[in-house]
Amino acid sequence: MNGNFTFYNPTKIYFGKDSISNLKNELLNYGKNILLVYGGGSIKRTGIYDKVISILKEVDKNIFELSNVLPNPLYSKVLEGARMVRDNSIDLILAVGGGSVIDCSKGISASSYCLDEDPYQKYWINQKPVDTKVVPVASILTMAGTGSEMNGGSVITNEDLKLKKGRVFGPNLYPKFSILDPTYTLTVSEYQMKSGIFDTLSHLMEQYFSGNDENVSDYLIEGLMRSLISNAKVACKDPQNYQARSNIMWIATLALNTLVGLGKTQDWEVHSIEHQLGAYTNCAHGMGLAAISIPYYKFVYKYGLDKFAQFATNVWMINPDKLSKEELAIKGLDALENFIKDCGMVTSIKELGTTKDMLKDIADSCDLGGGYYTLTHEDILKILESCF
Ligand code: NZQ
Ligand code: ZN
Repeated sequence: MNGNFTFYNPTKIYFGKDSISNLKNELLNYGKNILLVYGGGSIKRTGIYDKVISILKEVDKNIFELSNVLPNPLYSKVLEGARMVRDNSIDLILAVGGGSVIDCSKGISASSYCLDEDPYQKYWINQKPVDTKVVPVASILTMAGTGSEMNGGSVITNEDLKLKKGRVFGPNLYPKFSILDPTYTLTVSEYQMKSGIFDTLSHLMEQYFSGNDENVSDYLIEGLMRSLISNAKVACKDPQNYQARSNIMWIATLALNTLVGLGKTQDWEVHSIEHQLGAYTNCAHGMGLAAISIPYYKFVYKYGLDKFAQFATNVWMINPDKLSKEELAIKGLDALENFIKDCGMVTSIKELGTTKDMLKDIADSCDLGGGYYTLTHEDILKILESCF
């Protein structure tokens, strides 16, 4: 390991069946005014909403509700929530949902008292530090994938600017506590479950495919990838399998709580492309990543051949005997492609609502970066054309 790092992750995790029983005690640590943030209504259908409301009432909280946070959450929703925080002197933002709801809640917290500048420009475009008061955020996670429950990430779509941009806030905006009950994820549609699984795999791959030094983080990532792949195979056949779904939920958290990326360079180009694909099509995040990944990795593997060969042997267990590094790397990518297809994930961005005339605009609006190779906008266009 060559890189230096500071590691601090303040989120307290309650994991397992009925872990919601810890909510009441946690709420005692906060003031009276709670902003309950949720999505399009799944929590009402599953009964989680009723449970949370009854616990909030038991501890005599004033409840304010912000509903209808959409997947790929919108900046207009962040501003609506920020107004509610100010108008009602909110003491805690309680996000109940998937990554979109949690990301929106962090955005609301950072934006509530940011009155001197447009928060989108300040935080998501110019990536400036938060220097105004923030309101604590906590989460009850209902869908596995993003890792937002234990990190500072907040990805917000600005509908006017046609930009979907990520921002990593500091530890004061990490959820103070997150409740992870895998049974809550059993009602997620198979499509969204698969999207979440690929999102997690992509987080692991995008931290892995960069750097060539001997690094303990890479071995942690390989272990998580192997466990994710084997549990995903079970869950895709038998979505109600608790053991597989609980493993997937915890792997998703570990994949992006910053632990496995410590001390190493990272890639994140697939995410950068997907974010703009999402800004144009509003597709499910993980399905966008699945469609882009194979053409992306086929484009860049030559520049990181050793790591791609290691991926084949240590993650997909391909026997390296008699194979050149190049052959091995290709076999690893073939195994990844078969996994995507066997699980029934999306392989074409057309299927996600992309039209031909969008491709250049998407490519031109992506941020450039990368692990082993820095793509140009023209390279991105080629990649998008090959998964159209
Ligand atoms: O809105 P509701 O009605 O709740 O329905 C949601 C939504 O339609 C549904 N759902 C969630 N839990 C459910 C459920 N349906 C039935 N039963 C349940 N228990 O699932 C749909 C998708 O939810 P969403 O929150 O959008 O999914 P996800 O968790 O994948 O979040 C995606 C967002 O997170 C961002 C993505 O870009 C995207 O905007 N990301 C956030 C990151 C972070 N904070 O670190 C990193 C990621 O790379 C990612 O970019
Ligand atoms: Zn992601």
